[in-house]
Amino acid sequence: TPEKEPPKTGDLLVFAQGGGEGKVITLDDLKPNAAPILAYPMDPSSKIVKSGEAKNTVLVGRFNPDELDEETRKYAAEGVVAYSAVCKHLGCIISQWKAVSGGGQEMLFCPCHGGAYDPRHAGRVVAGPPPKPVPFLPVKLEGGQVVVAGDFTDKVGVEASAQNCCRMA
Ligand code: FES
Repeated sequence: TPEKEPPKTGDLLVFAQGGGEGKVITLDDLKPNAAPILAYPMDPSSKIVKSGEAKNTVLVGRFNPDELDEETRKYAAEGVVAYSAVCKHLGCIISQWKAVSGGGQEMLFCPCHGGAYDPRHAGRVVAGPPPKPVPFLPVKLEGGQVVVAGDFTDKVGVEASAQNCCRMA
């Protein structure tokens, strides 16, 4: 079904929750260093929101471009960057934004087992059990709207590997 199609170049990113469901996310919605917004891609012609597949859930944040490392800047636009919201550990949705390890910068945080990812540095794992960074969903800005600019940069979701299973032991 079209609701389960993966994001594709040209899709708009829309709010996934918070009362704005289906509303297109614009630069004005994104305050630098504020909690990233949970979003789904929407086909701009059919207006179908691709919310039928959890793996389409992404987090859109905005940062000072100077704070982003070189790799992150490649997939960002004016400091706006999007990542898969599916935790690479066991697949929970990364739903929180909080400082880990004593007063540092806030990170993308998975409440299931305390996995944390640094959105300024290519989604690298900074705490907890996730085995890999979360992939980027490349974005661009068009008329102030956040638009998908390419496929996810890596596989979304849990790594099917023995290593992953046994970290839980
Ligand atoms: Fe996210 Fe375990 S599922 S830390």
